[in-house]
Amino acid sequence: MKITVLGAGNMGAAFVKQLTRAGHQVSVTSRDGAKAAQVAAANPGAKAVPVAGSTTGAEVVVLATAFADAVAALQGAGDLNGKVVIDITNPLTADYTGLTIGHSTSAAEEIAKALPGAELVKAFNTVFAQVLAEGADFGSGRKVSVFVASDSERAKQSAAALAESIGFQVVDAGGLKNARYLEPLAGLNIYLGYGAGLGTSIAPAWIRKA
Ligand SMILES: NC(=O)c1ccc[n+]([C@@H]2O[C@H](COP(=O)([O-])OP(=O)(O)OC[C@H]3O[C@@H](n4cnc5c(N)ncnc54)[C@H](OP(=O)(O)O)[C@@H]3O)[C@@H](O)[C@H]2O)c1
Repeated sequence: MKITVLGAGNMGAAFVKQLTRAGHQVSVTSRDGAKAAQVAAANPGAKAVPVAGSTTGAEVVVLATAFADAVAALQGAGDLNGKVVIDITNPLTADYTGLTIGHSTSAAEEIAKALPGAELVKAFNTVFAQVLAEGADFGSGRKVSVFVASDSERAKQSAAALAESIGFQVVDAGGLKNARYLEPLAGLNIYLGYGAGLGTSIAPAWIRKA
């Protein structure tokens, strides 16, 4: 798959690592080109590109910026009409102890409203960067779940294929509206990791009787 990763921070770098290892064609971008260049240099096969035009030719765009930067990043990246955009953002308060929006909307729905031509899918927002960087079972002996929510079946299938290609187990979480549940779930994960002191080598799972 041809994939553009918007953002070269904790999550962006972890995506570039796993996606290049799985054989995808990966471009990475950030406003500070040096950051993207550093991530690309550490991952053979990855390419650092300028933000403008970075989504040209991409089959999938991974949005790995803060929620506050998301719409500007997507608008600055190029034409997103008909493109699958994986939204991994969580609309966190500055101290990471709460969400800035929720209940009646979600980060995913707000981004989708601002970019009506894109096919948005919520995924990976409950996976810590440390877990993504270590790999889908991160030594736990089990595959980490990636919850996928979208109103576009094509976007859901693309996100699921991407997640499975790097070893994750996919849970179909319904329509994009269910990002209203997935973003608070990430909040709980952050509480458990930092507030309760479990650390960031943890991940939520959905278990079903065999
Ligand atoms: N960290 C986690 O464990 C984790 C887990 C699940 C979900 N998330 C979510 O994933 C997202 C990224 O988290 P993170 O920890 O990776 O954040 P981060 O380390 O701060 O990285 C954010 C990246 O976005 C880039 N960026 C900002 N505006 C941009 C723009 N207009 N165009 C291109 N790139 C832009 C920044 O680089 P420049 O400033 O150079 O542009 C930076 O590389 C957040 O929404 C977060 O809630 C994080």
